[in-house]
Amino acid sequence: MSEEPSALIFEAPLGSNLYDQAVHLREAILREPLGLTVTAEERLDDAVRQHFCAVSDAAVVGTVSVWPFDEVTLHLQQMAVAEEKRRTRVGAKLLAHAEDWGTQAGYRLMIVDARVGAEGFYLKYGYSQEGEPFEKHTIAHVRVTKRLR
Ligand SMILES: CC(C)(COP(=O)(O)OP(=O)(O)OC[C@H]1O[C@@H](n2cnc3c(N)ncnc32)[C@H](O)[C@@H]1OP(=O)(O)O)[C@@H](O)C(=O)NCCC(=O)NCCS
Repeated sequence: MSEEPSALIFEAPLGSNLYDQAVHLREAILREPLGLTVTAEERLDDAVRQHFCAVSDAAVVGTVSVWPFDEVTLHLQQMAVAEEKRRTRVGAKLLAHAEDWGTQAGYRLMIVDARVGAEGFYLKYGYSQEGEPFEKHTIAHVRVTKRLR
């Protein structure tokens, strides 16, 4: 595995150019292959999410969002890394950044509904599987959780 020293993590505030690029990436990776789109409802929900993106060579190559599930719990959503940048630790950086943000904001638990096949990525970083797989966005997911410190 090679490192990706040039991928830096930034906040992508709603309405910013970084946010627009992040939504484009989200749509291309997480929705289009399933015949879905980022819906107007999802865009509305984005207003209460915190968005982060990974930038390399002035382009957004990764995205993730967190949503306040309750006062102590964050729900991590829309984790996606551009295909040509996968396995270069962009996802790991995004995950660590989201966790650090959550910890500093006072959250104690991160939950993720991981796509089956991607759950190993989260298990590698201390997440534990909870319950049985279930369907979401037409494909199998499994919930994983991690206590934040
Ligand atoms: C899952 C995803 C976000 C991982 O991002 P990434 O940037 O490729 O991952 P990283 O390079 O940071 O990997 C960090 C570690 O996790 C491992 N890993 C990455 N993807 C994995 C997977 N699907 N299953 C198991 N381990 C995985 C890597 O091998 C690496 O381990 P190592 O340190 O022992 O070498 C990325 O593959 C992706 O966008 N996939 C398509 C969309 C998707 O499934 N998103 C997740 C929705 S829940």
